[in-house]
Amino acid sequence: MTKRRLLITSGLPYANGAIHLGHMVETIQTDIFARAMRMCGHEALYMCADDTHGTPIEISATKRGITPEQLIAEAAASHRKDFEGFNIGFTHYYTTNSPENKALAYDIFDKLQKAGHIREEVVKQLYSETMQRFLPDRYVKGICPKCGAADQYGDCCESCKAHYDALDLVDPKCVLDGSTPVVRESHHLFLNLSDLEAELRAFANSDALSDEVRNFVTTWLDEGLQAWNISRDKPYFGFEIPGYPEKYFYVWMDAPIGYIATTKSWCDQNGRSLDTYWRDPSTEIWHFIGKDIIYFHTLFWPAMLKVAGYAMPHRVHAHGFLTVNGTKMSKSRGTFILASKYLEILPAAFLRFYFANKLSTGVDDIDLNIEDFYFRVRSGLVDNLANLHNRSFTFAEGKLGGKLDDSRYDDACRTLIAFARQQMAEIVKSYETLDTSAVVRLICEIGNKANLFYQEQAPWTYLKGEQADPEKARAIVTACAEVVRIIAIAIKPIVPDFSEKIFAQLGLEDQNLCDLEKGLNASNTIRNVEKTYLRPERETFDLLTAVEPAASSEASPDAPKTAEIERRPLKEAISYDVFEKLDIRVGKILSAEKVKKSNKLVCTQVEIGHPDGPVQIVAGIAKHYDPEQLVGRTVLVLTNLEPRTLFGLESRGMILAASDSEGLELPTVSQRAPGAQVK
Ligand code: MSP
Ligand code: ZN
Repeated sequence: MTKRRLLITSGLPYANGAIHLGHMVETIQTDIFARAMRMCGHEALYMCADDTHGTPIEISATKRGITPEQLIAEAAASHRKDFEGFNIGFTHYYTTNSPENKALAYDIFDKLQKAGHIREEVVKQLYSETMQRFLPDRYVKGICPKCGAADQYGDCCESCKAHYDALDLVDPKCVLDGSTPVVRESHHLFLNLSDLEAELRAFANSDALSDEVRNFVTTWLDEGLQAWNISRDKPYFGFEIPGYPEKYFYVWMDAPIGYIATTKSWCDQNGRSLDTYWRDPSTEIWHFIGKDIIYFHTLFWPAMLKVAGYAMPHRVHAHGFLTVNGTKMSKSRGTFILASKYLEILPAAFLRFYFANKLSTGVDDIDLNIEDFYFRVRSGLVDNLANLHNRSFTFAEGKLGGKLDDSRYDDACRTLIAFARQQMAEIVKSYETLDTSAVVRLICEIGNKANLFYQEQAPWTYLKGEQADPEKARAIVTACAEVVRIIAIAIKPIVPDFSEKIFAQLGLEDQNLCDLEKGLNASNTIRNVEKTYLRPERETFDLLTAVEPAASSEASPDAPKTAEIERRPLKEAISYDVFEKLDIRVGKILSAEKVKKSNKLVCTQVEIGHPDGPVQIVAGIAKHYDPEQLVGRTVLVLTNLEPRTLFGLESRGMILAASDSEGLELPTVSQRAPGAQVK
């Protein structure tokens, strides 16, 4: 295998908004690809950054009374945190507002100018006298000049889809203050794209584009290339254009240069040469983008690269847009799901696994259907792959002291392992073509076969009795563990945390494709087995699209809601003696904090009037109560329940709660002191 060098990017998120699950489609797809290439032994750098320039940033900052620099610093911190939460393994995450980017943008502009591709023109634009600024298309609304629809933006009509010039809008109004703009003239700089038509056609016909994307680009080329306005008037947050005071580069001019600048910053920190990545045709430059920004990445960007003497992208891959439950993400329907909100509810791995299921090579939109999400995570990840790991590892550790041995493999063991290894070739091919949906299918096939093998071979039957043969059991379990190891290698790009746990429990260092043939044997021991993923509850998934209570309470301001009565027969009768054994007391919650890595559990210290002082109770109520709401509350506690350990925390007792399909509520005692007996 020849070692490839790849420089991989995803679209730079705007700094004026939070990361949502639409962004995550892209970063998860890119991250899976980058990790897959590394797993195969290639050098794969993943570069990304915040896109920090433009009018909206400048306006938001002004509105909030802070500087644009403060605003983009806040955004950077929150974006980084979200991406980290989703385990996105950037090599470097930077910003377009950097000295490197400024220097590179100046240099590229200089080269464009010297090559004669920049021309100056006078442009008429809408100008707000009250705000003393030219208004970008999205800051004016008026009546569509084509169909007469009211309330349309300055660039295109949502009703008839017509594109037009903002100057043609009938009765235009500034969206910021409702004032009527005037028309003003200003000098602007244009990149003459049509000068480069031949080069751009060659690029469009190269392997860099899929046929689907090529069709779009060819249509644009056939329609004729318009010169591109790369300048904006002040006030603007961006880079001032050298030689043109009070003019700034349009954000889309310096944004893609951010790909190079981010690489430069990383190279400088790591003693590498930028030219290795951006001027050496043997480096594969892969851009992952959404379908909305194809124009920028297949026309403007290659034009700039070409003239400035950089390597052309090896591949521009466009994916579709995320819809939730079949429709465009919407705040009012609760389907505009922020990354941070998702992370409070479910493990990142579930979404990574689901998007991998859904993503393939094309630009079709992908739908996050909550029901389907639950089903695929449950059936594919939890009940198949995680279950195979859990049952075989738990058995190996619990019944066989964790010691593995392959010396008694029989044909059935060997056939199973050979199958898993064979799948790998196809899996790698599918990663390379971005067909992660095929990857998941191939891996789940291995899991299914191995689960069936485990069931049929029934290692537990060899532990005692007449056919006792623990070494046979060991061989069966070793074969399963070997398959789990292979699955862990194969699925690592998709759910790295799953694989990490498995390697650790096997006492192995990180494993990659090159370790495929190094099967487990008598030198390996399974230790400290822990489940990879707990089986999720269906209701948890609905929390993703639950509209915030603040919004729903607007509808019915203060009507306290009484849940509907659910009629159920009683449980089996118990004697008074049994009842008397229950030590139920009034308890006061002294402190409460969320249990890390769990979205259900809260760890509380509760005063129950015991001679030894307060007890620790881990309660599954995190989804219904914030820790702050719990502190100071007087509740009912079953105090003599056998202690249990949850997420490594001992829990002595149970806080009693009333729950039905609608929710959960803690009954509160207001007049009795902690320790009062309940009988
Ligand atoms: N800042 C520009 C990109 C500059 S690249 C030099 C931008 N920012 S963005 O925040 O709007 O989007 C960042 C990336 O996320 C883009 O590739 C965009 O297509 C993608 N997505 C944003 N919303 C999306 C969905 N709802 N679904 C899928 N991808 C989406 O565009
Ligand atoms: Zn219209």
